[in-house]
Amino acid sequence: MAAATLDSNYRISLASEVDVDGWRSHARALLQAGVPPDRVTWTVAGRTDSGQLDLSGAAAASEPPEHNIDRPPPPIRIAKPLLALINTGLLHRNEDRFDLAYRLLCRAQLVPRLHDNPADPDVLQLNRYAKAIRRDIHKMHAFVRFRKIGEGKGREQFVAWFEPDHHITAAVAPFFRNRFTGMDWLIVTPEASIAWDGQALAVGPGGSKEDVPQEDMVEAEWRTYYAHIFNPARVKIAAMKSEMPMKYWKNLPEAELIPSMLDRAAARVDAMVAQPKDNLPLADPGVPSAAEPPSSLDQLYHRLERASDAPRQNFSDRLVRGAGPQDARIMIIGEQPGDQEDRQGQPFVGPAGQMLDRALAEAGLDRQQLFLTNAVKRFKYRQSGKQRIHETPNVGEINYYRWWVEQEIRLVAPRIVIALGATAARCLTGQPVKIARHRSEILPFAADRSLLITIHPSYLLRIPDEQGRQVEYAKFVRDLELARHASVDRDPA
Ligand code: URA
Repeated sequence: MAAATLDSNYRISLASEVDVDGWRSHARALLQAGVPPDRVTWTVAGRTDSGQLDLSGAAAASEPPEHNIDRPPPPIRIAKPLLALINTGLLHRNEDRFDLAYRLLCRAQLVPRLHDNPADPDVLQLNRYAKAIRRDIHKMHAFVRFRKIGEGKGREQFVAWFEPDHHITAAVAPFFRNRFTGMDWLIVTPEASIAWDGQALAVGPGGSKEDVPQEDMVEAEWRTYYAHIFNPARVKIAAMKSEMPMKYWKNLPEAELIPSMLDRAAARVDAMVAQPKDNLPLADPGVPSAAEPPSSLDQLYHRLERASDAPRQNFSDRLVRGAGPQDARIMIIGEQPGDQEDRQGQPFVGPAGQMLDRALAEAGLDRQQLFLTNAVKRFKYRQSGKQRIHETPNVGEINYYRWWVEQEIRLVAPRIVIALGATAARCLTGQPVKIARHRSEILPFAADRSLLITIHPSYLLRIPDEQGRQVEYAKFVRDLELARHASVDRDPA
């Protein structure tokens, strides 16, 4: 190993395309030995080299030189954001990624905050790679479709086939474990497979599409759902292809429907226009509970905290205020605070809130940008031993808070309001609402505002089987995505 000198060229062969650990340890040794990037070429065992680097002159050494043991190796300086960028960029399929990362690592020793210069060609290139990886990961999260293959030891078993563009398969495994903890699954890609058996994640060799069954019950559900949410009046073919690129269509059960639905779209739009509207208008909220409309949210909550006519029996004393930017484009309205929300004084911080957070992130929504509140502002419960058990608010209690919710909407002025579940939908419309009938539609709402009705995330927590939960969760994410699009669509160009 010590035979090579600093003038040598080095040819480092990594164990696999995703041998990031190998790259890291070689890069560290090379850097500490002072080997400049133009003397190193990186390759991967078994790869047919494209010969992009000229290794003329001395035969290339395959190991970095040892550093002088009399002198301690110089410390390696690397800012956390650059390290994160390199770790992501190394998953890109381009063969030059290891060279690029090593070059940046060397240059970062001399140029502090190199990663902050977006015009630097190396930084620019690595940022491009990282962006492509994030997109590929997002697509894999969204477009993996499991097929049920059986049951064993009381657990359902699923398989999925997916073709990512980059070397991301192992990197996405924790996401699928966290989301589909309760079922056994195997995801096969051409390069690698990942599996979860309820105990451990395993990464194995890749496979082919033929290894994976082509159809199961869940697919019928997907098709029905997709046909239901497909709104012919909102067809934007370019946007649709960018969100759901055509190369994924072949593995998506619902995509089979797209061509025929597009064909029929124009006729369906005409029929929708001709039909009398089945809108859900915001009914008169009735007698206001306060004479003057409040001029700020602070004033609103302050008054409501003191309102003597508010329903109190079976309710916690604590009023849980809405939270989020006061000019949010999207307002989300839940039922009422739960036990955790009541203890912490914040909406959506308990189990349903965590489910909501996950779905929001998957739908591309940042919780910090949203205004979250509840139809009923206090926790209604019954005591059972030490536990406080949630009680559904009755119509009178919902109606009491309607005026206050309307004031919240007026003050925040969101573009779209999302009603989570039947209580919120009733509060906003003044009538009982069948969620299944009205969900996933962008409904016209008062004064240049839209309403989207969907399920409450606590419903997802109650679905006993993983398969059903998977389908419902995906629908919920899809609803949130619809709301995200609707909140942006209405911006002036
Ligand atoms: N459920 C709700 O509807 N609201 C919360 O704040 C928490 C759970």
